[in-house]
Amino acid sequence: MRVNHALAAMPAEYLFARVQERVALCQQLDPQNPVLRLGIGDVTLPLGAHIAQAFAQAAAGMGTPEGFRGYAPAEGYPFLKEAIRAHEYAARGVDLDADDIFISSGAKEDAAALERLFGPDARIAVTDPVYPVYADANAMAGRLGAFRGGRWERLHYLPCTGENGFEPPLPEEPVDVIYLCFPNNPTGTALGYAALKRFVDYAREHRALIVFDAAYRAFITDEAVPRSIYQVEGAQEVAIECCSFSKFAGFTGVRCGWTVVPGRLLGRDDSGNTHSVQQLWRRLLHSTRNGVSFSVQRAALAVFDPEGQKECREAVAYYMGNARLLLEEARACGLAAHGGVNAPYVWARTPDGMDSWQFFEFLLERARVAVTPGAGFGPGGEGYFRLSAFNTPDNTRQACRRIRAALR
Ligand code: MLT
Repeated sequence: MRVNHALAAMPAEYLFARVQERVALCQQLDPQNPVLRLGIGDVTLPLGAHIAQAFAQAAAGMGTPEGFRGYAPAEGYPFLKEAIRAHEYAARGVDLDADDIFISSGAKEDAAALERLFGPDARIAVTDPVYPVYADANAMAGRLGAFRGGRWERLHYLPCTGENGFEPPLPEEPVDVIYLCFPNNPTGTALGYAALKRFVDYAREHRALIVFDAAYRAFITDEAVPRSIYQVEGAQEVAIECCSFSKFAGFTGVRCGWTVVPGRLLGRDDSGNTHSVQQLWRRLLHSTRNGVSFSVQRAALAVFDPEGQKECREAVAYYMGNARLLLEEARACGLAAHGGVNAPYVWARTPDGMDSWQFFEFLLERARVAVTPGAGFGPGGEGYFRLSAFNTPDNTRQACRRIRAALR
């Protein structure tokens, strides 16, 4: 068969696969001396008891005539769509319809699939650095040209640097789609209302679409930071929002998330005809998905019960305690460090002019601590590394001690 040449031309390895491989090898060579993992942002706490019980009950029910369910609706069960509408949007003054909400097996999967809505020549912008899925999905679809010197030839990079406070500038050239991930992975910084409004206004004026990945919004501690892009007036006409149960509810292994495609969002084809993006997304899902399992959606529903909310709040506080520690420690080591206040990631400069991968190797060998090299998140990540707060407080403290000793 003839393969997808754009896929075949991708850089050989996915960032986190490369990190995992290096860590596994290091561990294998010295099994007695555990590597502490502050690399991939994978939760370490088990599911909350209330959520796990709802999950188990629904799964057990599948073995009974009353509890059995076949295919789930491709868009999600109405009970979960309605709970998300009420708790995640109406409670924040955002007026959405439950039909604007589409349940999926996670924000990453949807963030990757959304590119199928765009024309083949759509001009794509991403903040730099950023979680790799947005660029990768468009690159695989052949939209980004060649990858040279760590950059995609046809991708518009919106640099987020220490100098601009990690707040991306608006695109300088016309683009059709802007991916924003806030609170940001990897910089751990959030965008305030005014900054988000600039993007919404830009998108309205230039008929661009914003894909807003809000997977980390439950970690926002600053009351002034919007939890949803729809808190900005007019955003429902220009933005799709992806969210996830992964990090705040511990669903990285369970898999459940949602995407909002508002009924008011319109797109145009090459002949200038207008289309409802929601109808296009629904059409796409009907052809390509059979829904998320009933028991997973029941577990997700339990997240919105008072007991489930309490469990999630406690988990978020647990990880954010680690984030605070990582930020303080990185600064105490003399590193320029950011994030960690509205997100479970700390983003820090590598010392002594080391590049990201050199510093990754240095920490792995000298401290036996795994971090994520900033360069893996885009050219703007070179010279930085990311620390993840998803671990136990004990491991986090121990990792801090080891990093401090290695940098001495
Ligand atoms: C990360 O470490 O960036 C995340 O865990 C990756 C993900 O959410 O897929």
